[in-house]
Amino acid sequence: MAENARTRVALVTGANRGIGFEVCRQLGARGWRVFLGARDYEKGAEAARRIGGDVSPVALDVNDPDAPARLAAGIGQVDVLINNAGVHYDTWQTALDVDWRIVREAFETNLFGAWRMAQTFAPEMRARGWGRIVNVSSGAGSLASMGAGTPAYSTSKAALNALTRVLAGELSGTGVLVNAVCPGWVATDMGGSGGRPVGEGAASVLWAVDLPEDGPSGGFFRDGRPVAW
Ligand SMILES: NC(=O)c1ccc[n+]([C@@H]2O[C@H](COP(=O)([O-])OP(=O)(O)OC[C@H]3O[C@@H](n4cnc5c(N)ncnc54)[C@H](OP(=O)(O)O)[C@@H]3O)[C@@H](O)[C@H]2O)c1
Repeated sequence: MAENARTRVALVTGANRGIGFEVCRQLGARGWRVFLGARDYEKGAEAARRIGGDVSPVALDVNDPDAPARLAAGIGQVDVLINNAGVHYDTWQTALDVDWRIVREAFETNLFGAWRMAQTFAPEMRARGWGRIVNVSSGAGSLASMGAGTPAYSTSKAALNALTRVLAGELSGTGVLVNAVCPGWVATDMGGSGGRPVGEGAASVLWAVDLPEDGPSGGFFRDGRPVAW
C-alpha cells in the first residue's frame, strides 16, 4: 500500500477541550486513528465519547517526564504528533514582577513537554521515513513582534519555536517534517471570547499535518502562511 493511503495514527496532547479537541474531532472525521491526550483521563474519555469513531482517550500529563515513554509502550507507532497542550497566557504579570512558579510551569508544559514528546515519538517516525510533528505555538512567541507582556507565555513559546528549528534540522531529509503553527486568536478557555471559531484554529494546525513530502520543515505558520520569527 502506498505510504499516503495507509490510515494515519495521530496523537494530540491537551485534547480534552479547546483547539486540541477540535483537531481530534476533525482527524476522527477523516477516519484516522486518533489518540486524544488528557491529563485527566476521565475528561479525555468524555471528550472521546463526544467525538466517537476511532478516537481513543489516553492519560497524558506532559509535565510528567516518564509519561511519553509509558504511553509509547502502550499505543505503539504514531505518524503525527501534535504538541498542543499549553498553559499560562499570563496577561496579569510583568517580567520584572513574575511569579516564578508560573514561569516554570509554562516552560515545563509549553517547551519541555513538547520536547519530551518529540524525543519519544520522532525516532520511530525517522525509522519509518514518514512523520509530522506540529508544535502549536503562538504569535506571542514571535521575537519580531514581541514586546511587554505575557512574559512566561511569550518566552516559553519563543523557546518552543527554537526547539522546532533544532528538531527540524536534526530530522532534515528523513521524511519527518517539524513545524510551529499559530492557530490565531481562538475563542477557547485560554483565548476567551471574541476570538475566531475553534474550527479555524484547528484548520491552521491541520495544515501542517497535511503537508506533502516536499513540504516545508522548520517553519512557523498561521493559516498556511509564514509568520515572522
Ligand atoms: N486560544 C488562543 O487564542 C491561542 C492562540 C495562540 C496559541 N494557542 C495555543 O493553542 C494551544 C491550545 O490552546 P487552547 O486555546 O485550546 O487552550 P485551552 O482551551 O486552555 O486548552 C488547553 C489544553 O491543554 C491541556 N493541558 C494543560 N497542561 C497540560 C499538561 N501538563 N499535560 C497535558 N495537557 C495539558 C489542558 O488540559 P486541562 O483541561 O486538564 O487543563 C487543555 O486540554 C496551546 O498551546 C495555546 O498556547 C492558543
